[in-house]
Amino acid sequence: MPRRSLVVVANRLPLDDNAAPDGACEWRRSPGGLTGALHTILQQAPATWVGWGGGPGPRLPNVGSVRLRPVALTADEQRGYYEGFANSTLWPLYHDAVQQPVFQREWWDTYRAVNQRFAEAAAEVAGRHAAVWVQDYHLQLLPRMLRELRPDLLIGFFMHIPFPPPELFMQLPRRVELLHGMLGADLVGFQREQAAHNLAQLARKLLGAEAADHAIHVGPRTVRTGAFPVSIDVSEMSALATRPDVVAHAGQLRHDLGESKRVLLSVDRLDYTKGIEHRLTAYRELLRDGDVKVRDTVLVQVAVPSRERVESYRDLRDRIEGEVGRINGEYGRVGEPAIHYLNQPFDRAQLAALYRAADVMVVTPLRDGMNLVAKEFVAARGDGSGALVLSEFAGAAAELSTAFLVNPHDLDGLKQTLLRALEADPADLRARMGAMRRHLAEHDIYAWARAYLTALDHTGRLAQRLPN
Ligand code: ADP
Ligand code: F6P
Repeated sequence: MPRRSLVVVANRLPLDDNAAPDGACEWRRSPGGLTGALHTILQQAPATWVGWGGGPGPRLPNVGSVRLRPVALTADEQRGYYEGFANSTLWPLYHDAVQQPVFQREWWDTYRAVNQRFAEAAAEVAGRHAAVWVQDYHLQLLPRMLRELRPDLLIGFFMHIPFPPPELFMQLPRRVELLHGMLGADLVGFQREQAAHNLAQLARKLLGAEAADHAIHVGPRTVRTGAFPVSIDVSEMSALATRPDVVAHAGQLRHDLGESKRVLLSVDRLDYTKGIEHRLTAYRELLRDGDVKVRDTVLVQVAVPSRERVESYRDLRDRIEGEVGRINGEYGRVGEPAIHYLNQPFDRAQLAALYRAADVMVVTPLRDGMNLVAKEFVAARGDGSGALVLSEFAGAAAELSTAFLVNPHDLDGLKQTLLRALEADPADLRARMGAMRRHLAEHDIYAWARAYLTALDHTGRLAQRLPN
């Protein structure tokens, strides 16, 4: 068989159309783990990327060897499909319902219509027998739609976020259609084994399918499933963190924060799954009880704006900003806030400098598919110093098991773990960090893509196009 071409389908293109100050169109790398990961691996691999390009910019550039195929969404579609069904129904439900999922019937029709539009766009650009790799919960109906349009294609699906157990998934009014949608793929990949297990249970329960953890029989077809934990470009972040300008910037940050201070750092999208409120409560109590003091410790909380048209995200921002204000009002001193709060995007070099400048990285989501920030911090710590406090409920915890693992719902446990990390012996920290760095060196973003694509086509030929 001739070499298969590769098409990636994701909600977002790797570029966002941001209006420049003079009103001109200006393309920027889109935020978030998914686009960052795929952008990196595809830059050197000939492929086509189908996705939503933000605003309707005039010219869409290609990115490296990736051809971009934009899908336009109307304002109503953005509301029903992206803000509604994807981010107000599926997102909270799949994250353990840490926020109440909203079920609105009209969102479903828009979600289905937009999935159909993405499927048609993918069918149009995919060559004969191409491999089409569909990404994430926004496009869960697409694999089946695409199979109906183009039975010749090899279809992969990867879920970047958690996939819930039956007790939660069963709440979905359109659960059977969603399951059938995913099972249109030849290979369904998840971050963790538990998710593959959940899918098999659901296929048995809802579809009466014969299903084991890695194979689900749907009519004459067998859908394979498995865990493929996503990662980062480890060498890019390691190199960035040692670049002279980044080292200088990190030094300046330390100076500005107070040379002798211990620096705690958190970097999140401003999302209720990230556990920012729990973290702030724990920090307030540590200050209240005198376990940490503003004169020798500071927290830097970066919270990049996200999904701001969704009400629950706006409410969260108000609550967080109120709490940061209260904590600083109560415990800060002139020129010495307890918390530095930064609600803004940063470029990669600025993030690398922050990672370098921190003593303790605090990554405490209530639930997270993976959490690439935790991996970026580890990659940035070439000298083996620094502590990582990591939620047990982040996918990354399964791999970074020598981090200071914590249950973020347990406030006392979280406080104690923060103190342990702040006071840890440097030799202990180096041993922990060394183990995490060794793991990451073997499990970077290229290894992820190679593992998935090799499992998809069995031959390894698809993966050959990726850089080594
Ligand atoms: P999610 O996919 O839920 O956003 P991840 O932690 O997996 O969470 O990925 C977040 C990505 O966004 C990381 O690559 C991180 O570097 C990036 N990021 C986080 N905060 C910022 C920020 N303030 N500016 C730019 N990028 C950010
Ligand atoms: O990681 C899950 C995810 O929804 C990704 O699809 C996306 O890269 C990231 O979170 C950011 O979300 P959004 O695309 O809604 O800004």
